[in-house]
Amino acid sequence: MKWGYYESEAFKEFGMKPPQLALFARLLKKLWLTVFTLLLSSSLQAQELSKLPYVPTPQIVVDEMLKMAGVTAKDFVIDLGSGDGRMIITAARTFNASGVGVDIDTKLVDVSNKQAKADGVGDRAKFIEQDMFKADISKATVVTLYVLPDFMEKLRPKLMAELKPGTRIVAHDYYMSEWYPDRQQMLTVPEKVKANGTDKAYLYLWIVPSVVAGSWRMELDLGGSQRQFIGLWFDQRYQMLDAAAEHALGTTKVEKLLLRGNEISFNLTIGANPYQFTGKVNDGKMEGTAVTAGNSQPIPWRAGKLPSEKK
Ligand SMILES: C[S@@+](CC[C@H](N)C(=O)[O-])C[C@H]1O[C@@H](n2cnc3c(N)ncnc32)[C@H](O)[C@@H]1O
Repeated sequence: MKWGYYESEAFKEFGMKPPQLALFARLLKKLWLTVFTLLLSSSLQAQELSKLPYVPTPQIVVDEMLKMAGVTAKDFVIDLGSGDGRMIITAARTFNASGVGVDIDTKLVDVSNKQAKADGVGDRAKFIEQDMFKADISKATVVTLYVLPDFMEKLRPKLMAELKPGTRIVAHDYYMSEWYPDRQQMLTVPEKVKANGTDKAYLYLWIVPSVVAGSWRMELDLGGSQRQFIGLWFDQRYQMLDAAAEHALGTTKVEKLLLRGNEISFNLTIGANPYQFTGKVNDGKMEGTAVTAGNSQPIPWRAGKLPSEKK
């Protein structure tokens, strides 16, 4: 094929030769493709957001979710996609907590702020218009969610990265596929049938775990100048742990491992003695006490993450 079709009057006006015209056409095509991709992706995003409609959580479920999270006056609750504000207003009114609701819908945000003031909790229950994926959630001690599964999946990395260990996340009906809940419960709520086609409400609770993955050096204080040094290796998937230990007498099994927020417990047998360890994890350090049948007093222990493992 010749360049003939470029030799239109319009191109001649630009004073271009066929090879220049071909380059110009390629650039135009590229520009058009970029614009088209941008338009498509923003319209897909808009469609995706519109997939999360406003459906309120029945009040009885709101109460149970806040109870399940153990909300008290010390808590700061964040509801991502806060609807008419019932979660945060209940947390403030019934549980004396403070909190913020984040919703993308201006009208729902206005309704919620007005209701919080009318209920006398406007100073502790506030609502802001924002995309939940952009919200600052770092101050939360409890996060509540009633969002569809794809939102749960997209929120998972944000929740893991931005929430402090020990923060409770409680969700209505939908869970995160990879991160198993620490607790779950089911309620029968006839009021749900109309909006959801079922009278069942499923509640899920997760507790954000400390990061313990890697190698640790543990010191067990046996009294006097006696100390036992133990190497510990943790493999971690969310709150689920696997571990191995090594000490002067050889390798030993680590059993009954449990991580809840920053609280850790496990059993270790050293020599012939089985020990039960409990402790707390904070910033690359662990400390706590261990009990064993022979000792009436709990034995202090501490551990530090090996420098090469610190991230
Ligand atoms: C299923 S309703 C839940 C309302 C409330 N949390 C409750 O349990 O009653 C979901 C809410 O999320 C809001 N929403 C949808 N997409 C959002 C986004 N990207 N950021 C913030 N809010 C969003 C909707 O406006 C709606 O109010």
